[in-house]
Amino acid sequence: MAHPSPPVIGIIGGSGLYQIDGLQDVSWRKVSSSFGEPSDELCFGTLEGTQVVFLPRHGRGHRLAPSEINFRANIDALKRVGVTDVLSVSAVGSLREDLPPGTFVVVDQFIDRTFARTKSFFGTGCVAHVSMAKPVCTRLGDAVMGAMQGLDIPAKRGGTYLVMEGPQFSTLAESELYRSWGCSVIGMTNMPEAKLAREAELCYASVAMVTDFDCWHPGHDAVTVDQVIAVLTANAGKARALVKNVVPLLRKHEGPCRHGCQTALDHAIITAPEA
Ligand code: ADE
Repeated sequence: MAHPSPPVIGIIGGSGLYQIDGLQDVSWRKVSSSFGEPSDELCFGTLEGTQVVFLPRHGRGHRLAPSEINFRANIDALKRVGVTDVLSVSAVGSLREDLPPGTFVVVDQFIDRTFARTKSFFGTGCVAHVSMAKPVCTRLGDAVMGAMQGLDIPAKRGGTYLVMEGPQFSTLAESELYRSWGCSVIGMTNMPEAKLAREAELCYASVAMVTDFDCWHPGHDAVTVDQVIAVLTANAGKARALVKNVVPLLRKHEGPCRHGCQTALDHAIITAPEA
């Protein structure tokens, strides 16, 4: 029997994470996708001997607004180069008093309020309905939490990430509405990324780095880009250290994940096969 291959990690870096520390043998390579252009070339490299792949979600230099990101091409490109596990890192606003700026939240649920993005690889000829009941992979989530040890990062496991279309930040009424729904954090990018990762049978986990209290908090001014960047800059080192620690922890696992992420299509395709 062939030896089961270890997971291959792909990191999608959001605002503030445009590169990875300590990456060796780095090469940026264009990867074509039948779904159009990914956000940038993919960055291939090794971290202590392990191959990793990195993609800046907004492109180097932060050129793409959230609604302009070709999420299908990004996920397809990572899949094509052999990635099995996608670690998403992104900046978010906090919707809860107990998640102040600087907190890293390993979310476990999403509410998708985006409306101007292509959200599926399927349709027109082949229809599939994958389960999104548990959108985050437990194996990858465990590795991320383990990687946090010793890094002095205020971290929380679990929470709901509200994904808005943007690019404008929320109104106060919207922010209060999402709080009343029990959401923990708000951002603009993890959907349809998580849905497409599931359709591509990739494990997915998300580290949401809190940069602000959005606009609901009576003791804080409404969020501004300057504020987001200031907190991100202060946290970029921690985010990079976290990524570096995840890689060996994930590598300890061999073979496919046991949580169903990598067999998501087994019972999802409804279109009859061609006769
Ligand atoms: N990204 C960082 N902070 C945010 C906020 N308050 N709303 C939406 N996206 C964000």
